[in-house]
Amino acid sequence: MTREDVKISTRNLNVYFGDLHAIKNVSLQMYNRSITSIIGPSGCGKSTFLRALNRMLDIIPHARVAGEVILDGRNIYENGTDVVELRRKVGMVFQKPNPFPKSVYDNVAYGPRIHGIRSRDELDAIVEDSLKKAALWDEVADSLDKSAMELSGGQQQRLCIARTLAVKPEVILFDEPCSALDPISTAKIEDLMRSLKNDYTIVIVTHNMQQAARISDYTAFLLMGELIEFGKTARIFERPCEKATEDYITGRFG
Ligand SMILES: Nc1ncnc2c1ncn2[C@@H]1O[C@H](COP(=O)(O)OP(=O)(O)O)[C@@H](O)[C@H]1O
Ligand SMILES: [Mg+2]
Repeated sequence: MTREDVKISTRNLNVYFGDLHAIKNVSLQMYNRSITSIIGPSGCGKSTFLRALNRMLDIIPHARVAGEVILDGRNIYENGTDVVELRRKVGMVFQKPNPFPKSVYDNVAYGPRIHGIRSRDELDAIVEDSLKKAALWDEVADSLDKSAMELSGGQQQRLCIARTLAVKPEVILFDEPCSALDPISTAKIEDLMRSLKNDYTIVIVTHNMQQAARISDYTAFLLMGELIEFGKTARIFERPCEKATEDYITGRFG
């Protein structure tokens, strides 16, 4: 698969929460080994869109999804989809770092253990590799038994990224991963994303437009559940086609 290939896409995606139509007919393509950012004002449906991409909405009883999400050519909402395997392939990192109250090691080994890996050597290798990829290894190599709760917020977020990487995902969804972090930790996560995109397809929700402009290859602008505009990030920020996009990125609302 090359960088020009579509890894995951939506076709006429609609999401309803009871009577609320939260995502309206959104068709969007997200490219392999690229970063796509989803921007838009609070409440426009960014998190809902992201959650539809790995069927996280399944657990909300009053949520209904219509339309298609196509991963590697197959609609994930088709009958017979293995949802556990889907969520391994399409991992998610949340706004607030949410490590388990366990050791650093056990946080990262958690997913691989669930998937049946028992060999200590194999787990050791996965833990080290994942922490290195998440740019955390140098800071925790000597304290793998320490509780994850003792790490700083920025370290906890990188630990959550390592935990996601440990199950060998192909797509990683980030929902405002830096909004609880200070500027230095934010810069570390942004650097990390730039390196991760060489191997993964990344989709990031952010309300920080400078962040979207800095790190993403493509940008999608959502407004009240509708996709207003999508394109290469530089084009969206320098020459938006829609008045609403221009108003939003110049800070006239949101
Ligand atoms: N679990 C839910 N139940 C009911 N309404 C929801 C739920 N989650 C989100 N919504 C509503 O869907 C809309 C989009 O929310 P959300 O995707 O969280 O927006 P954003 O992430 O862009 O701030 C909002 O009107 C929100 O109140
Ligand atoms: Mg949100």
